Amino acid sequence: MYVCVCNSVSDKAVRKAVANGARNFIELQQATGVGTCCGKCVGCAREVMLDAIEAE
Ligand code: FES
Repeated sequence: MYVCVCNSVSDKAVRKAVANGARNFIELQQATGVGTCCGKCVGCAREVMLDAIEAE
């Protein structure tokens, strides 16, 4: 599913960024561009990121 419609960032892309070392939202934004337009996806993207970090 798409987490960020503005930048076409999927939950898989968020999980991949975490697997590649993203550990906070700024690093996730730098890796994927998530949440850099309208910002509506930030809460959801953060949840997916934290879930992926916990799963590691
Ligand atoms: Fe992610 Fe708009 S949906 S910035």
